[in-house]
Amino acid sequence: MDRILVLDFGGQYNQLIARRVRELQVYAEIRPYTQVNLREIREAGYQGIIFTGGPNSVYDPASPHYDPGILDLGVPILGICYGAQLIAWMAGGEVGSAGNAGEYGKTMLQMREHLLFSDVPAESVVWMSHTDSIRRVPEGFRVLAGTKECPCAAMGDDGRRIYGLQFHPEVTHTAYGKQIFRNFLFSVCGCRADWNPSGDVELMIAKYRAELSGKKVLLALSGGVDSSVAALLLHRAIGKDLISVFVDHGLLRKGEGDLVERTFRQKFGLNLIRVNAGERFLSKLAGVREPEEKRRIIGAEFIRVFEEEAQKIGHVHALAQGTIYPDVIESGKGASAVIKSHHNVGGLPEVISFDEIVEPLRDYFKDEVRAIGTMLGLPEELVRRQPFPGPGLGVRIAGEVTREKIGMLQEADAIFREEIDKAAPGNKPDQYFAVLTDTRSVGVMGDARTYGYVVLLRAVSTDDFMTAEWSRLPYEVLERASSRITNEVRGISRVVYDISSKPPATVELE
Ligand code: XMP
Repeated sequence: MDRILVLDFGGQYNQLIARRVRELQVYAEIRPYTQVNLREIREAGYQGIIFTGGPNSVYDPASPHYDPGILDLGVPILGICYGAQLIAWMAGGEVGSAGNAGEYGKTMLQMREHLLFSDVPAESVVWMSHTDSIRRVPEGFRVLAGTKECPCAAMGDDGRRIYGLQFHPEVTHTAYGKQIFRNFLFSVCGCRADWNPSGDVELMIAKYRAELSGKKVLLALSGGVDSSVAALLLHRAIGKDLISVFVDHGLLRKGEGDLVERTFRQKFGLNLIRVNAGERFLSKLAGVREPEEKRRIIGAEFIRVFEEEAQKIGHVHALAQGTIYPDVIESGKGASAVIKSHHNVGGLPEVISFDEIVEPLRDYFKDEVRAIGTMLGLPEELVRRQPFPGPGLGVRIAGEVTREKIGMLQEADAIFREEIDKAAPGNKPDQYFAVLTDTRSVGVMGDARTYGYVVLLRAVSTDDFMTAEWSRLPYEVLERASSRITNEVRGISRVVYDISSKPPATVELE
């Protein structure tokens, strides 16, 4: 299988670079520049190397540098932004400040005819984000493209097959970014498009079957995409030796606990333990209003319940987790094992002893995990499930959490989701939900005065949840949701729609 190394210099888009390459069916792995040396790169036999961007200036001695010998390995290299400047600097060119303001946002790029730009118009929109730029290209290189502000926006040395782009082809704002990657991968590096995550799955299943059969493996199943796919995969490998514990903290969406149980126990026949711990969580949360305190309590209690169940099982060989690739890579910090906490609410259990951690999805991005889920037969409603915070409705109820409030919110949230699902099944926001605020307001029903809670509806579209834009939902959808919620849910007198984007707001209110 052909592989591309994405050498990470701390850029904010480094994961996107790997995703774009993988979308073109070439396997890409991200390695921090500090954690892979020239010898390892040579021995690994990559088809090509991509240098990511980064926030630094190459002249700063503290900024990331690399052994210039990498330019002589004979492996094609594509440098992006800082990566391009680094190539220029290492090869003897000149990099300098692009002026006081730098260049940010969408810009028109004029390019020469070149292999890297085949099937890209001579002029197209690219995304720029830099203060430094290449002032003079190194010997052997020539300028391949420029913008008004940046005369050298692309350079290349065809002899050594080394290229640098000042703009970011990995972001969707660059109109022909994907085509440029395609040209680099297939025309420059000669890669074959022979990778897809589903192809790995049968191999993984066979590997885990060989390694783990007859040994007990414990997994915390939340019903979220990652833990669900990990569970199905391991179930295919070792069947009943996988014991999945589903802690229902009573803070799930309406009907969700039953859906998880039905799917995994009845449809797939998993060895599943469901723990209905709602009362326990409620009593711990009594009187607590502060969001971080609620998070902490829910996380700690979750681990406690999980540990109690695990102790009943006795010694387990391994703990399985739904860790995915973005959990593992942290820009610049390296692929040190950042272990995902149990469905993001707590830490690792302390009282359970196990010999190893099994993370079948640690090489995959979310989209790829979804594809594996589909392949394993996970129902669409779970594959396409929107993210749901580990602490659940606990952080969607402002102020104190009570049984009545959970009931109200579950109903309001179910109505809102139903209306959106009905209105635009193919074009839904990336996340949409209701929040029960701590504010009450006066209303009128029939001839009587009411004094109920204000429910807030939130819907956002986003690529990565780092930034998000509030969704312009049709008024009719909002109207139907509002009238149904106030009519059908006792205790709610008013509905508001959140029109804040992230930043400055976050997706969740707490
Ligand atoms: P924020 O509110 O930080 O949310 O803009 C970004 C994304 O993360 C989810 N989220 C959480 N997920 N545990 C989780 O597992 C949490 O405590 C948590 N808080 C927020 C949120 O739903 C959104 O998708």
